[in-house]
Amino acid sequence: MMPGLQYSLFLFFCLTSCQESPASQSCLNKQQLLATVRQMQQFLKGQETRFVEGIRHMKHRLTTLQNTLTKAAPEPQAVFCPVLEVPLHGKKFGTKNMVDHEVHFICNPGFQLTGSSSRMCQPNGTWTGEATQCKGVSECTPHFCQNGGTCVNEGEQYKCICSKDWTGSNCQYQTQTVPPTWSVTNDPGFSRKPRCAKFDHMQQCSCEAGFHMSGTSENSICQDVNECKVYKLEGAPGLCMHTCINIPGSYHCSCPTGYRLFSDGKSCEDIDECVLLLHNCTTGTMCINTGGGFQCVNPECPKPNGNVSYVKTSPFQCERNPCPMDSRSCHYAPKTISFHYLPLPSNLVTPTPLFRMATASAPGRPGPDSLRFGIVGGNSRGHFVMQRSDRQTGELILTQSLQGPQATQVEVDMSEYLGRSFQAKHVSKITLFVSAYEF
Ligand SMILES: *[C@@H]1O[C@H](CO)[C@@H](O)[C@H](O)[C@H]1NC(C)=O
Ligand SMILES: *[C@@H]1O[C@H](CO)[C@@H](O)[C@H](O)[C@H]1NC(C)=O
Ligand SMILES: *[C@@H]1O[C@H](CO)[C@@H](O)[C@H](O)[C@H]1NC(C)=O
Repeated sequence: MMPGLQYSLFLFFCLTSCQESPASQSCLNKQQLLATVRQMQQFLKGQETRFVEGIRHMKHRLTTLQNTLTKAAPEPQAVFCPVLEVPLHGKKFGTKNMVDHEVHFICNPGFQLTGSSSRMCQPNGTWTGEATQCKGVSECTPHFCQNGGTCVNEGEQYKCICSKDWTGSNCQYQTQTVPPTWSVTNDPGFSRKPRCAKFDHMQQCSCEAGFHMSGTSENSICQDVNECKVYKLEGAPGLCMHTCINIPGSYHCSCPTGYRLFSDGKSCEDIDECVLLLHNCTTGTMCINTGGGFQCVNPECPKPNGNVSYVKTSPFQCERNPCPMDSRSCHYAPKTISFHYLPLPSNLVTPTPLFRMATASAPGRPGPDSLRFGIVGGNSRGHFVMQRSDRQTGELILTQSLQGPQATQVEVDMSEYLGRSFQAKHVSKITLFVSAYEF
């Protein structure tokens, strides 16, 4: 601030005093005045870049705040969708019927699913998709009866006659004590006694939701269905974003440390340690939230070198001090160096734009008439390209996905030209914090 203020007061003084007494000897000559004017212009340019950077930073902060608030806001009004029945000959996963919650269906072996395999509760209290049904196969297809069973036509229905030791509508269960692979058998906590009642001298037994019956008809037991495993075997994605934990009769999802389970019960959302003050960054360093954690950063300006020296003008920006008029090397050194920290998920789909760099020309003064953008450094340059996205803007594009966890750096520059003559160079140092997960 101070040098600029001095220039302007000085300039003002000169202009006014010279106008009043044009012959005054105390005035600077034209050359000196022009030099001062140029330095003033540079100073204003610097101020403007800083101002633009400041606004960008504030916008980013606001967006972050907005996101946090939107996520944290309670559902405006609890809307419920009607509870969906478990389809006959099928299973239902997911029990919540609030907005944005999903339920999934699968059919028992030998039955075909019609309608939707996943349905989501919409804000107007209706489910997406169509009613789900598990329909018996209408023909004796080769694999309808498993384990050596024979398919027979019985009126309109098709039925399996199972070979010895097999049972179930498709002969999929062994009549002996061996239950299907996806049931939990080695833990008594995951078994229940069936509820049985006698109808017409016939014993009828059933299991609670989330359990299935196995064993012989005289000696049956309800064993937990491992939803996590069934779902995986079915090749259906998305029961849980991270880890599925089977519990007796049901399941729940869990997230890695640094994340918490989102209100849909299946997604993981990052915990912003910086906003929630859960970080241990010391004073003088800044907290950067990353996927699953945080980093403490302290960007430093380059050390003075010859006529080139820098001053920190904001926590994330360095500006070059004015150069001696005739020092070429100083003039070519970066005029501003800014620092950027981007958290990224692992294995991001590419190509994806990561960062934009634009020029800011002072009002009433012609801006640079051409710009050149480039990648000047960093430890993984091969993953990026820098290209122009419009006349004033360059864009850093990730072209090869990055596998986390890792931190990597890339340095880009923008050179401004006016009438083919070099004006100034700006450098942005970008650090990417790639999380260990794809979310
Ligand atoms: C509920 O919303 C969905 C999508 O927003 C729409 O397709 C559907 O027709 C709506 N149903 C009713 C009953 O309003
Ligand atoms: C800050 O916390 C991290 C773990 O979150 C730990 O590894 C590190 O040692 C801590 N640093 C200090 C200075 O306490
Ligand atoms: C610094 O600038 C002066 C002109 O003001 C020049 O003579 C000198 O060579 C420069 N020094 C370096 C190290 O570039």
